[in-house]
Amino acid sequence: MSNGFKRRDFLKGTVAAGAATAIPLSLVEVSFGMGSNNAAAAGAQDFTFAYISDSHLTHIKGTEFNDNFDKGLKRAVTELNFMSPKPDFVIYGGDLSQLGKKAELDHGLEIMSGIRELDVKWVIGEHDYYLDLGAYWRDNISELYYSFDHKGVHFVVLNSILTYDEWTHERWPTAMDRMKAMARLDNPEGSPFMVGAEQRQWLADDLAQVDKATPIVVLSHSPLYQVFKPWNFWTEDAAEVQKLLQPFDKVNVLHGHVHQVLYNQIGNITFQAMMATAWPWPYPVSYAQHANAVPKTTVFMNRADPHNLRDGTGWGSVDLVSGRETIHHTLWRNTNRTIAYDADAGHPVDTKYQDPASQIPPQDHY
Ligand SMILES: [Fe+2]
Ligand SMILES: [Fe+2]
Repeated sequence: MSNGFKRRDFLKGTVAAGAATAIPLSLVEVSFGMGSNNAAAAGAQDFTFAYISDSHLTHIKGTEFNDNFDKGLKRAVTELNFMSPKPDFVIYGGDLSQLGKKAELDHGLEIMSGIRELDVKWVIGEHDYYLDLGAYWRDNISELYYSFDHKGVHFVVLNSILTYDEWTHERWPTAMDRMKAMARLDNPEGSPFMVGAEQRQWLADDLAQVDKATPIVVLSHSPLYQVFKPWNFWTEDAAEVQKLLQPFDKVNVLHGHVHQVLYNQIGNITFQAMMATAWPWPYPVSYAQHANAVPKTTVFMNRADPHNLRDGTGWGSVDLVSGRETIHHTLWRNTNRTIAYDADAGHPVDTKYQDPASQIPPQDHY
């Protein structure tokens, strides 16, 4: 932990000091804030939330679904229920379904309903959106963009997977043709993601109400920066969104979509990707013909066995300490990773593998 300490460490220390010095719980909470700087001044506390993403539940026929993808989401839900202490809430990061079908979204809701006692905050992915343009999601799951406050932190959920009107409304003979076109990774007929002018205006209005010292967490599906356009690891109007976030002291963007460990820092904004429960994507440079566009700070996920489609799947939890995120990646068949903001470096680092000497070389082909 670069700044502050974890609640459980503090509690352990309290226990070690002996029962005679028992401290009321409310004081434990207060002692947290004292370690913080201006995040504490803005009233932010430390807390943990969980993050599940990219389950891509795939309907086959009747009541039959792709069992492998079902198992990924079910495992994440089970492990989340075993977390102790419990997180404050859960984020679902988008791509719950593969083709946006009602059957897939209902199936996802049923599995997610196994989460006990916790609210879920939903982010929509392109696989959930491009069949009916978010209608079923909006009616049965969540608004597509909204904000909320939690313990002094301002959370913003964006629908970052919109694209040009012509592509969306005029190009495709059927809604399913459109859905399938957007569902392909390397599609020359694809179209770049964007937040769009209307939502950027909403964001500007929303942020106008927020103190600049209040920590911000933005939840999007695509990264709010530009990694690799042919795969839509990309948000076209990212620079304009970043501009709205620049005035704030501490900004964290968490996203799904890329199905891999990925982190970056642009100005005051820290970007982190969360993992998929369904399958990992390789890094674009692994295709060799492409130059590496992954941020320099990112230590690649080791994927020693590219034929093992489960080796980079999992879920994560996020400690928000003094308004900065520490991500714990739970990777089922790969090495668990923790990425934390390093105040001296001014960007997130892997707490174990950032040093090149400790890194396992990634595959150089796929
Ligand atoms: Fe995905
Ligand atoms: Fe996606």
